[in-house]
Amino acid sequence: MHSSILSIRSSAVAHLEKVSNIADLIEWKNELLGKTGELSSILKSLKDATPEERSTLGKDANTLRWEIEEMYEKKAAEIEEQKVQEKLHKEWKDLTERKDIQTWALHPLTLVINDVMDTFTRMGFEIWQAKEIVTEYENFDSVNVPASHPARDMQDTYWIEWGKYVLSTQTSSQQNNILKSRKPPFQVIVPDRVFRNEDIDATHDNTFYQVEGIVVGENISLANLKYTIETMLKDLFGKEVSIRMRPGFFPFVEPGVEIDFSCPFCGWSGCKVCKKSGWIEFMGAGLMHPNVLKEGGVDTQKYSGFAFGFGLNRLAMIRYGIDDMRIFMHTDIRALRQFAWK
Ligand code: PHE
Repeated sequence: MHSSILSIRSSAVAHLEKVSNIADLIEWKNELLGKTGELSSILKSLKDATPEERSTLGKDANTLRWEIEEMYEKKAAEIEEQKVQEKLHKEWKDLTERKDIQTWALHPLTLVINDVMDTFTRMGFEIWQAKEIVTEYENFDSVNVPASHPARDMQDTYWIEWGKYVLSTQTSSQQNNILKSRKPPFQVIVPDRVFRNEDIDATHDNTFYQVEGIVVGENISLANLKYTIETMLKDLFGKEVSIRMRPGFFPFVEPGVEIDFSCPFCGWSGCKVCKKSGWIEFMGAGLMHPNVLKEGGVDTQKYSGFAFGFGLNRLAMIRYGIDDMRIFMHTDIRALRQFAWK
């Protein structure tokens, strides 16, 4: 290659190394190939050269022109790539480092329902999905509470349509449907929302959760009921809990009982949770009334059953030491989030 071309080339290469942006790169190229550029002036001077020199110089100058074009393209791509890398670097965000993300939390009632369902599932119970709007028959008549019965006043009812539909006041409203759709022996629990037209205070709400359980089979007794409830409580509180039964009245059971359990927090010595009595009032239960079994198509000569129903809100309050039932339906997320973990 002609010496003057070689020297242009080596100084061009040296310059190019210092170029770091597109504007400089364009200038670099113009200085070489532009009308007044170095290479152009060499080409212009060809007219004064010898024919021999003209041919080699011309050829070499053209070679260099292509080389410069090539270097230009290569460098432009490099600059572009570097720009992208810098942008990526600058905009990189490690999402796992974010401090402002709130961890999710389940509602305390959901936590307790899940645990209750777990325990009963392990004991071989089926979980029944209840309805929240039920007929007067389901809620009352089918469970031995005819219209004239004073027990209707025990639960202040929201009527959807007078004499026809109510908001379920108790999960017992599912008993008849279960009896009619299952063949003994069977065991079912019904966790669901119920509604009562009550004044709201720290221990009462007009919307709350109950868990109903019914077991029907041959020779079902109160001993089976006792074992079932003790097992559930032991599972829920992670320790032995004793229960006691007192006579109680519910039209759908005979005999009917009220069940209390020993305070899992103080073990009878008396504390705030058990109001210093050592016992916590927990639920209504009993052997299923023959009228209820018959209404559900069960042969009472052959089968008997027990039923129970307890308030889940109360259980959650005891478990988490919550002293105001209203927080369950409240929208204060901070209050509800605390119970994410046991
Ligand atoms: N349904 C009753 C209530 O809501 C509870 C209960 C259920 C009692 C089953 C006995 C048997 O108070």
